[in-house]
Amino acid sequence: MTDTVLDIPFDDAFRFDPSPTFAELRENRPVARVRTLAGAEVWLVTRYDDVRLVLADPRFSRAAVVEQGAPRVALAKPMPNSLTTTDPPEHTRLRKLVSSTFAHRRIERTRPWVAELSARLADDVAAAGDGADLRQLVALPLPIQVICQLLGVPYQDREQFREWTELGYSMRMAEKDLVENAMTELTAYIEALVDRKLATADQPADDLLDELVRAREAGDRLSQQELIAFGVNLLVAGHETSANQISSCVATLLRRPENWARLVADHTLVPSAVEELLRFNRFSEVGQLRVAVEDVELHGVLIKAGEGVMAALNSANRDPRAYDAPDELRLDRQDNKHLSFGFGPHFCLGAQLARIELQESLLALLRRFPELSLAKPAEELEWRRVLVSGLAELPVNLGTVAPA
Ligand code: HEM
Repeated sequence: MTDTVLDIPFDDAFRFDPSPTFAELRENRPVARVRTLAGAEVWLVTRYDDVRLVLADPRFSRAAVVEQGAPRVALAKPMPNSLTTTDPPEHTRLRKLVSSTFAHRRIERTRPWVAELSARLADDVAAAGDGADLRQLVALPLPIQVICQLLGVPYQDREQFREWTELGYSMRMAEKDLVENAMTELTAYIEALVDRKLATADQPADDLLDELVRAREAGDRLSQQELIAFGVNLLVAGHETSANQISSCVATLLRRPENWARLVADHTLVPSAVEELLRFNRFSEVGQLRVAVEDVELHGVLIKAGEGVMAALNSANRDPRAYDAPDELRLDRQDNKHLSFGFGPHFCLGAQLARIELQESLLALLRRFPELSLAKPAEELEWRRVLVSGLAELPVNLGTVAPA
């Protein structure tokens, strides 16, 4: 298959087991030619070190993905002027505006509240009984409530922005027009929210959008378009990935009940287990796109300026060059430098918040449902065939329910 241009996502995507195609590419074709859903031909790197290089080396740009004629991976057009579509120094300036909100110590202050919320959602699961769908009852509402609170977006609008977000990650060519409309509506929604905050600037609220609006009023260099891009970016990035990961973490543990039992017996393993599950779970079947801004040679392949390169995080996380027994789930794995939150300047802004959400939701379920099990064989669970993929459902049986 050395010269073939492969279509991504591969045929072996959207399942629990590791991809044989990624394994084959890592060994024999570390810089491979692939065709994206939007019809662009780009390079795909699959080895751990190469993925880190592409994500961190300034010769591979994010700003260039919004330029005219740039290769496209998805149906949704990337939004200019956002954290994800700028390079340093613009990116550094934007990131500084929000970095204190997401700083480790400040975000840790949300932990007790996230734990309380997780316990309340576990009550909903107990009330639903056997067959309860954890995706609907825990994995989605938890990160949505957290990001709404943090950003200052009304929780009652969730149905609307969920629908727009779903479409934003669509991979169905037939939905192309719907995707564009959804992105326009989401942008207009955030714009209206920002306008309302501007109109009530004399009554400050304790949320991030309000903070950004006030920073702009106080003369910080931040355009209206950048402000709106922040809102869209954080609202979308802040819930979809966490929701998918919460479901995947629980499902992966329940696939081998001894793993669930081990965590029930020893909660101190939860932090390392979450890191290992983040490494292990398949969550993006395509990869993170960059565009080369100069010619770069990698493993004897010439990547020309203007060409797209995708960094396959899932594949890097299973690279035997970086991990001992990468296809083994080791809940106590040490020194786990997985790439699920990316690497380099665009390293996930919400990584610590996501860790808190994952750890606390897992702890609440372990405490309340020590005998939790899948209500359907794992291999029959339905997957969401979208850009940031995950399970479409997670029906469980509860077993003994511990008191709240
Ligand atoms: C388990 C959940 C999450 C995963 C796996 C995840 C993964 C990622 C990855 C891989 C990137 C880097 C993309 C690239 O380099 O092209 C990223 C960036 C980002 N993430 Fe997350 N994320 C998660 C949760 C969150 C949350 C909860 C938030 C917000 C509160 C968030 C906000 C962002 C933002 C704003 C960026 C762009 C950062 C930049 O470009 O400087 N993420 N995320």
